Amino acid sequence: MCGILGCISDGDVVPILLNGMKRLEYRGYDSWGLAVVQDKIRSIKNIGKISEGEMNLSKLKGSIGIAHTRWATHGCVTRENAHPHTSCRKEIAIVHNGIIENYQEIKRSLLAEGHKFTSQTDSEVIAHLLEKYYHEFKDIKKVLLVTVKKIKGNFAFLAIFQEDPNMIVGARKDSPLVIGIGKNSFFLASDVLSFIEHTDKVIFLDNLEAVIAKKGSLRIFDFKGREVKKRITQVAWEAYDVSKKEFTHYTLKEIYEQSSTLKNSLYQDPMKLNKFCKSIKAAKKLFITASGTSFHAGLLARYMFSKISKVYCEAVLASESNQIMDWVDKDTVILAISQSGETADVLDAVRKAKEKGAKILSIVNVIGSTLDRESDLVLYLNCGPEIGVAATKSFTAQLALIYLLAFTMANEVISISKLKRLNDYIDFILKQKDKIVKIAEKYKDSNDFYFIGRSVHYPIALEGALKLKELSYIHAEGMAAGELKHGTLALIDDRTPVVVLNPKDQTYHETLSNALEMKARGAKIIGVSDLNNEVYDDLIILPQIDELFFPIIEVIPLQMLAYYIAINRGADVDKPRNLAKSVTVK
Ligand code: AGP
Repeated sequence: MCGILGCISDGDVVPILLNGMKRLEYRGYDSWGLAVVQDKIRSIKNIGKISEGEMNLSKLKGSIGIAHTRWATHGCVTRENAHPHTSCRKEIAIVHNGIIENYQEIKRSLLAEGHKFTSQTDSEVIAHLLEKYYHEFKDIKKVLLVTVKKIKGNFAFLAIFQEDPNMIVGARKDSPLVIGIGKNSFFLASDVLSFIEHTDKVIFLDNLEAVIAKKGSLRIFDFKGREVKKRITQVAWEAYDVSKKEFTHYTLKEIYEQSSTLKNSLYQDPMKLNKFCKSIKAAKKLFITASGTSFHAGLLARYMFSKISKVYCEAVLASESNQIMDWVDKDTVILAISQSGETADVLDAVRKAKEKGAKILSIVNVIGSTLDRESDLVLYLNCGPEIGVAATKSFTAQLALIYLLAFTMANEVISISKLKRLNDYIDFILKQKDKIVKIAEKYKDSNDFYFIGRSVHYPIALEGALKLKELSYIHAEGMAAGELKHGTLALIDDRTPVVVLNPKDQTYHETLSNALEMKARGAKIIGVSDLNNEVYDDLIILPQIDELFFPIIEVIPLQMLAYYIAINRGADVDKPRNLAKSVTVK
């Protein structure tokens, strides 16, 4: 999964590409590169983050160019494997996001025809195929159509040609590609974020569509060659506000934003909300599917729908959705939850279910994302761009919206009004920053962490562990508190910190007993509760709220703990190693 960006303009596009790539780094940050057409194609590639290696680009200038920021899938992180990739004669340069599944087969036949490859990537075959067909047909539309027919997998790619220095071509299948329409300029990118300061007028390419952009003209056609007329969408600038404000990291800013994002997620069009609820209730079978943090929200949705709305459902990891496919039919509703709306596992699950006639309902943050466009009904999280790779504000927004759905289906008007005031309690947690910083310092050198909770607190325990792993690189496990005695207790000793999610609700006494069992084995207990107890070595206090709402609030100190432990360990919190924000590969 990577970020791609191309630009055609009257002036020099290099600064535009560089700035845009920094915005796309959330999609991958192993290596990066860009190419422009001057008299010939000139490119620059570098390993590492753009900010670390912003080299002297002064020699590179051009009014047409493409750029790429990489998250390695095929081939190690090397300069050779960084994009753009060029054809044998370096007359064509391409950038690609996705995976070409049949690249080995294509590469073999291209090698036999005499093509020379310089990288281990799957992407390079696109440059060579374009070269082959460009020389064969000369007609660029035909070249594109035969190329996309040849490659299998998922892709969004852009290409520039030395022989046609006024043109960028692109195509997409299962990976996003959007076109920004500026004044005398076009932008072709994985995400609007990369060019939002230049234009708010956008065309979202649909799946299996290709584009030929030239100065002053734009041709869009489907993979069968039929020209398509596209609607220009005006996107809201504020929805793409990516400034860090006074915060040192996006992750911290996003944690602190949660009182407003929680509120925004509850602003839903009542008609749309009711239609969504009606579809859920009408489903003969309901499956929730998501990945990572969004799956944790899905687990809580299963609980809320069942307990509050009396709607039975199953939550299944998107990457494991094959397990349910035999049961999916036209009476099935799939509720997909995704911040990015681009997660390949989620899209794959949704598409398979759609083929079997299921209705697709989605909760997404990124408007215009693939999931948004491929769903029958969508509710947006409205929490603005989440740049930190670790999901924070999108998670609490997902939970709030799930609660809203559950209460609406159950017609619980009083609970809805309480939910709408919940954001007032977030400050109560944020004010405990100094205490959380101290706890972080105390446990920063631990090798293992455990997070436990029962019932509604179990998904939050999973989420707390995931946050700590990805931000600080400490091994962490989230567990159902009752499961400890079935094995994990063997790992607990006096070096083990255990975060116990234990507010005063119906799970309180049993979870307290589990905390005592671990304390007896020497564990250090970090309580997260509205009630103190001597078992806790450290306590993060929760506000006095209706017990059903604890999960939404109690995850925030866990995000803060993970953040400050990561800072103490010198980790790059906004861009953790090996990860990327949207996982667009399977
Ligand atoms: C969360 O902190 C992770 N970075 C990751 O688990 C993420 O939630 C997952 O990849 C799903 O992403 P999505 O919500 O955009 O589909």
